[in-house]
Amino acid sequence: MNNILIRQEQKKDWQAVERLTRAAFWREERIGKIGVGAVEHYMVHKMRGREGIENLTFVAEVDDRVVGHIIYSVGSYILQPDGEKKAVLNFGPVSVLPKYQKQGVGSALMIHSIQKAKELGYGGIVFFGHPTYYPKFGFGEAKDFNITTAEGNNFPAFMAMELQKGYFDNVSGKFIDTAIYNEDLTQGPAKEYDQKFLE
Ligand SMILES: CC(C)(COP(=O)(O)OP(=O)(O)OC[C@H]1O[C@@H](n2cnc3c(N)ncnc32)[C@H](O)[C@@H]1OP(=O)(O)O)[C@@H](O)C(=O)NCCC(=O)NCCS
Repeated sequence: MNNILIRQEQKKDWQAVERLTRAAFWREERIGKIGVGAVEHYMVHKMRGREGIENLTFVAEVDDRVVGHIIYSVGSYILQPDGEKKAVLNFGPVSVLPKYQKQGVGSALMIHSIQKAKELGYGGIVFFGHPTYYPKFGFGEAKDFNITTAEGNNFPAFMAMELQKGYFDNVSGKFIDTAIYNEDLTQGPAKEYDQKFLE
């Protein structure tokens, strides 16, 4: 698709963003398990004014319609053996409205946001994601940078990328994720929040 516009999210986009996030992540089978088909729209809502980085939150527009979204977060770091903390970005949720998936919207959001994060001077990104989708944007396995999960593990879905060359030189340690990604959103509030999308 050629007509994808990526721009910083504005307040007027919030409702459309949460709707598309909900649609992208909705799984019927989650209703039986956690009482609601998606929690990621609630996560986005909670991130605003907290971990969410305003100038690293983007929407994708196609024909004046908001069809995709990505939000980056602060607060994650690599905890090194000497106790030093090396700040890293994380990102997500990243969402594309189902009808618009597999047409390059997600890639446009990734490429644009990574470039902006570099320009803003952030050093690196560490996150958990699909190991076949993200390497094309420059991600490698976190283990190649001597970074493990908080539990000391490594696996292909645990990935990292330097935004500034050499940022992970001489770094080793455990990835401590910012609070939002560890919060249990599956209880009451997410379901309650979802009610407003049913009207
Ligand atoms: C993950 C997600 C954001 C990707 O967005 P997307 O717009 O579908 O991504 P893209 O179109 O850039 O790429 C998806 C695939 O379509 C392919 N593709 C891209 N442009 C294409 C085109 N013009 N024609 C055909 N295929 C195309 C890509 O090569 C890619 O395939 P690959 O993964 O095998 O390489 C989206 O699928 C989504 O919202 N999923 C649900 C929520 C989710 O899981 N989010 C990620 C976890 S936080």
